[in-house]
Amino acid sequence: MKPADTMEKLVSLCKRRGFVFPSSEIYGGLKSCWDYGPLGVELKRNVKDAWWNALVRGRSDVVGLDTSILMHPKVWETSGHVSGFNDPLVDCKKCKARFRADTLDTQVCPEKPSKRPGECDGELTEPRQFNLMFKTNMGPVESQESAVYLRPETAQGIFVNFKNVLETSRVKPPFGIAQQGKSFRNEIVTENFIFRSREFEQMEMEFFVPPAEADTWYEYWCKERLQWFLDLGVDPDRMRLREHESNELAHYSKACADLEYQFPFGWKELEGVANRTDFDLKRHQEATGRDLRFFDDQTKERYWPYVIEPALGVDRAILVFLVDGYDEEALEDGDSRTVLHLHPKLAPIKAGIFPLVKKDGLPDIAHKLEEDLRKQFNVFYDQSGAIGRRYRRQDEIGTPFCITVDHDSKENGTVTIRDRDTMAQERVAIDAVAAFLRGKIGY
Ligand code: GAP
Repeated sequence: MKPADTMEKLVSLCKRRGFVFPSSEIYGGLKSCWDYGPLGVELKRNVKDAWWNALVRGRSDVVGLDTSILMHPKVWETSGHVSGFNDPLVDCKKCKARFRADTLDTQVCPEKPSKRPGECDGELTEPRQFNLMFKTNMGPVESQESAVYLRPETAQGIFVNFKNVLETSRVKPPFGIAQQGKSFRNEIVTENFIFRSREFEQMEMEFFVPPAEADTWYEYWCKERLQWFLDLGVDPDRMRLREHESNELAHYSKACADLEYQFPFGWKELEGVANRTDFDLKRHQEATGRDLRFFDDQTKERYWPYVIEPALGVDRAILVFLVDGYDEEALEDGDSRTVLHLHPKLAPIKAGIFPLVKKDGLPDIAHKLEEDLRKQFNVFYDQSGAIGRRYRRQDEIGTPFCITVDHDSKENGTVTIRDRDTMAQERVAIDAVAAFLRGKIGY
C-alpha cells in the first residue's frame, strides 16, 4: 500500500504543477468539481487516446460514437434511472450535514471528526431515497414538460443509437460501440480528490454478442481490461478483479466484476465489467416500438444481442496512474527526488530539452532540436537553473526523457538522453533522437 499521506502530497503536486485545480477556485471553489490544468489536460488526452486506440482504432470489431449529454427524458425512464438511480440519504438533525446511509462507516461527523455520523450527539433522520440525476429545463419555460436530465452514464446514448450504427456501419455481432464523454451524478458524498465527483468523464463500450457467446466474451473483456492497465505500467500487486456476489448484481445484470485498485484510502472500484444481458435493447424496444433486434442473414434469425460492458471513469483512471506512479526516492548523494513514473505514452511531456549553458551556441542547437521534435512530440525547452534542478522539475511531472545539449554536441552532433526511471544517460546522434523517442514511447 502507498503511504497514507500520498494523496495529500499528490493533490499538492497536482495544484503546484498545473495538473488539477479546484473548480472556480477564485470564488472559493465549487465542491467536487475539478479543472484540468496545462499538464493535466495532456495527461487526460493521453489516457483517453490510449483507451480509444486499444478499444476502437486498434480493433476491427468496435466502432466509436459521440452522443449528446441531454437526451429525451423518456430514455431515463426506460433505463430505470428515474425510478431507481437512488442512494439512501440521511441528515444529521443537529449539524444538518448529509450522509449516504449505506456508507456511514466510512464517513465522519464534520463537527467531531473522530466520530462517525450519528455516534456524536447528533441524531440521524430515517433514510430516504435521493435520485442522483441532475435535472434542468430545455427551452425558456420551466415546467415538468420541459424537464431534461444531464446524463448519468454514457451507455444509454449507445443503446438508443444501436439501430443507427447497425444500419450505417458494416458491423454484426460480436461487435462493440464505444464512447467517451462527460457524465453527471449528484453524489451525496464526494471524496478523495478526483475519485468521486459530481461532473466526471466516462469511457464505456457496449459489446453486442450472440447470447450463447456472452459468458466467453465477459471473461475476455475482464482479462483485456485488466491487461490494459498492466500494459500501461500499473503495479499488478495493487490491482485485482473482484467478481460481484449475486446479491450485489443489478437486476439487469447476469454477471459483473469490478477492477479494483489499492488506493492509499483502500481497495476501490476503478472500472466495472458487466454482462447486461439483452435488458437495455428490449426495454428501449418496448418503450419506442422500434425493432432493436439484429437480423442474422445466415441463420435467418432475429434476436436481441447480449451486451458486455466495460465502463471506466477517465478521472479515476488518471488518479490510478498518478497514485501508482508517485514516488519519493532517496538518491546516492544524500539528496532526494519526487518522481512520477508515468508510462511514456501517458506522460504529458515526452522530453525536456536543455542546453547545458546559456551560451556558446548551445541554445541554438537545443532550439533547433526542440522545433524538430515538436512536430511529433510534446516537448519542453528549459535553460534556467542548474541542470540537476531542471532534471528534478521534469521528474516531478513524469517526463520520461531529458535531452541535454553540451559542448560535445557542437563537435560531434550528439546529445545525452537521460532516462527518468534509471537516471542513466546515453549519447545519441541528434538526427536519431526522434526515432529513439518513438521506439521508447511505443508509437
Ligand atoms: N454504464 C455503467 C456505469 O455507468 P458505473 O459503475 O456506475 O457503471 C462506471 O460507472 C465507472 O464510472 C466507475 O467504475 C467509475 O470509474 C466511474 N464513475 C462513476 N461514478 C463516478 C463519480 N461520481 N466520479 C468519478 N467517476 C465515477
